[in-house]
Parts: sequence; structure tokens; C-alpha cells
Amino acid sequence: MSKNSLTVTDNRTGKTYELPIENDSVRAIDLRQIKVNSDDFGMMSYDPAYLNTASCKSTITDIDGEKGILRYRGYPIEQLAEKSTFLEVAYLLIFGELPNKDESDNWNNRIMRHTYIHESLTKILAAFRYDCHPMSTLISCVSAQSTFYPEAKEIDDPEVRLKQIWRILGKLPTLAAFAYRHRIGRPYNYPDATRGYTENFLYMLDFMNERNYEVSPVMAKALDVLFILHADHEQNCSTSVMRSVGSSQVDPFSALAAAASALYGPLHGGANERALRMLEKIGRAENIPKHIERVKKGEERLMGFGHRVYKNYDPRARIIKGIADQVFAEVEINNPLIEIAQRLEEIALSDDYFVERKLYPNVDFYSGIIYQAMRFPVDMYPVLFALPRAAGWLAQWCEMLDDPEQRISRPRQLYLGKGARDYVPMNKR
Ligand code: CMC
Repeated sequence: MSKNSLTVTDNRTGKTYELPIENDSVRAIDLRQIKVNSDDFGMMSYDPAYLNTASCKSTITDIDGEKGILRYRGYPIEQLAEKSTFLEVAYLLIFGELPNKDESDNWNNRIMRHTYIHESLTKILAAFRYDCHPMSTLISCVSAQSTFYPEAKEIDDPEVRLKQIWRILGKLPTLAAFAYRHRIGRPYNYPDATRGYTENFLYMLDFMNERNYEVSPVMAKALDVLFILHADHEQNCSTSVMRSVGSSQVDPFSALAAAASALYGPLHGGANERALRMLEKIGRAENIPKHIERVKKGEERLMGFGHRVYKNYDPRARIIKGIADQVFAEVEINNPLIEIAQRLEEIALSDDYFVERKLYPNVDFYSGIIYQAMRFPVDMYPVLFALPRAAGWLAQWCEMLDDPEQRISRPRQLYLGKGARDYVPMNKR
């Protein structure tokens, strides 16, 4: 007869244990009863880089990496990309349901009302050097905001919590645009709340007092869809950081600055920047085989390829290829990198090295080429990932805070170092 449990025999002692199975998992803490002696600490599971450890229960984002499926709150990413807007998706992620008309109007208004940043932040921005990476600037400014809004520490007060969510989603595009304009020496362009979310962002980046200035609706829409695709991706590196840092009950600005720092790395959200630099370095289609050889020898990675969870085509990459066509038609550029990217993809998808390891293009492979066509400087790409991912970080942070099973995040270790020994004075070493 089948039973929802796992029977484990400890061959050191011959003892048998029955561990309950819940959601196809066993609780790691149930292993602790497995001991050789009664004063043993008990068995732990060892899982560097969390290859097979669920750190939470979540109802936000569902990924089936084998089938290439991504859903937010049950809605397929393809439908959201086609029919929704980024702000609506942010609401869906955070509150669990699509908003009705009133909820949507109120949500959009509240966020756009919070797009102005504290003027003192511009003085912090001014202190950064002319060539500072905008992602570092963004991280620092997000963190600095906890000094402007000390009440953000009241994380258990639902009204205070919601206000910080409006503030973060509202102010992030402004900070990103100001970081960009600081670097190129242009005066800051203050937000225009009458515009849509991504339209206002593009306006803040671009507007230079031109007459009849208009943000291209094609670009605003393309960026909005890219924001939808990047909004959440369950327990990735930066989201785990958001949850982990947030579990100490710090304010959301501090936790989000930590999450953004994790995103900045080249194996995570920094991969779009690296992927584009790689395509530029390859330069010509005839250089691709040489590059592939270097990758296969382990001398470098094919940036924008591979994923911890997807062992099939990343569904976001598929949608992004569609957006790319619209953007390229709008800007009418003939970008040689597009051909290199397509050729690289063809070769990689038919090469045994990539096939055996199930390495497919991920979200970062084509997004860089689109950002380039939209004339974003390369180092803005990770910022363009961070802005929408903030919605996911905040949704996951709220879920973590409201989950009665969660406590301060604190992994165990296997200590394999020296045993106790006496201090050696300098002249005896
Ligand atoms: N190029 C060449 N080989 C690769 C790549 C790659 N991009 N990715 C993985 N491999 C190989 C790796 O060398 C290893 O081979 P072997 O078994 O012979 O040692 C095997 O595939 C498994 O790789 P892994 O490093 O154990 O896989 P992981 O799950 O730890 O890493 C990853 C996932 C995304 C960090 C990795 O695929 C990678 O470094 N990709 C390039 C960076 C990138 O595009 N990152 C963006 C990820 S998607 C956006 C996001 O969510 O951040």
C-alpha cells in the first residue's frame, strides 16, 4: 500500500526512520532525529548553492524548467506579455489577483505620485564620479533612501509597508534616469506623472527641451513588455537575497539594495551587459567558431546561455525575439550583432557540448541587443533588469514576512576546519 512517507535506514546503526512527505519533499529538520549517539547533533542535508533545497512555500511564480513554462500567479507569461502592463503585473505579483478598474487606477496613481525623489538624493548622486556604473549608483541610492524614510522599519504595519512599495516602484525609474543623466552630464529631468510608467522613464532619460517631444509608443510598449518578462522569477539569487536579508526584519530599502547588488553580478542580471560585450568582442560571424571553441575548453562562458532551472528554451527569450523585430523595424538599424547572435544561437543549439548540457539562450541573450537598438548604453542593461525585478522582490518579501513558518534566514555549515588549538605568539610562528 502506498504511503506518503520516506523510509530511511541508517546503515551506521541499522535504525529505520519514517519521514513524512509533503509536496514531494521531506523537511530537512526531520533528518535531525537521525543520530548515532543520543548526544549527536543529528543529520543535516548538504546542498551548496541550493541545487535541491526549497527555502520557502510560494504562490507567486511557477516555473517548469523542463517544459519551459513560466507563470505569474497562474497566468502564462505569454498572455501577460501580450495583454497586460508592467504596473498591472506588479499588482498581480504583490496582491495575487489582477486589479479591477478602481484598484488599477488607484495603484497606478499612487505609484506615479511617488516618482519624485527626495531632493537631497540628488546631492548624493552628484558625489559619484562621472564614469560611475549606473547599477552601483542605483544600489547606493536605494540604500540611502532608508535614511529618508525611517518609518520604513515598521514592516509589520500594513499601511507603512504599502507606502514603501509605492515609493520603491515609483522612485526606482527616477533614480535610474538620474544616474544615467548624471553620468552623461545632463541636468536631471523630473518625472511626469501624466505619462505611463515606462513612457515616463524614457522621457526622464531622454527629454532635452525639444519642441513637440514625444516618447515613441513602440519603444515604451517594448520596454513595458520587457519589464513584464523580468518582473519575477521565483527563488533566483537576488530574490533569495531579498528574502534572506528581509528575514532579519530590516527595512525594505536596505533589503532591496542587497537584492540589487546580487543582481548586478555577471552570472545573474549583469549577464545582459556581458552578453552584449561578448557579441561585440566576437565582432564578425567568422569569429564565432573560435569563440565556441574557447567556451568548450572552459576558457570562458557563453554569456546569455544556460540557466539553473530552465533545461529547455527560456520562454522569456522566445517572447523577446518577437519584441526585437518590432524595435528593429522602428529604429531601422542594420545591426551586425543581430546576425552574430542568431548564428551563435544556431551553432550552440546544434553543438553536442550545449545540447548535452541543455544550454539554451536565456532572457539575457537577446535583451541586450534590444536595449542597444533602443540606444541604452551597455552599462544601463543591469539597471533595466533591476527596475522591473523590484516588483518581484517586493512580492516575495511580503510573502516571506506573512509566512508564519519563516524565521530569520540562517543556514547551517559543515565545519571541516582545525580542532581547538592554542594561540601561537608571533615569535614562535
Ligand atoms: N557557457 C558555457 N558552458 C556553460 C554555460 C555557459 N553559459 N552555462 C553552464 N555551462 C556548463 C558548465 O561549464 C557546466 O559544465 P560541466 O558539467 O562540464 O562542468 C554545466 O554547463 C553546468 O553548469 P553550472 O555552472 O553547473 O550551471 P548552474 O546552474 O550553476 O549555472 C548559470 C547557471 C546561469 C549561472 C550558467 O548557465 C551561466 O553562467 N550562464 C552564463 C551567464 C548567464 O547568462 N546568466 C543569466 C542567467 S538568466 C537571467 C537571470 O535570471 O539572472
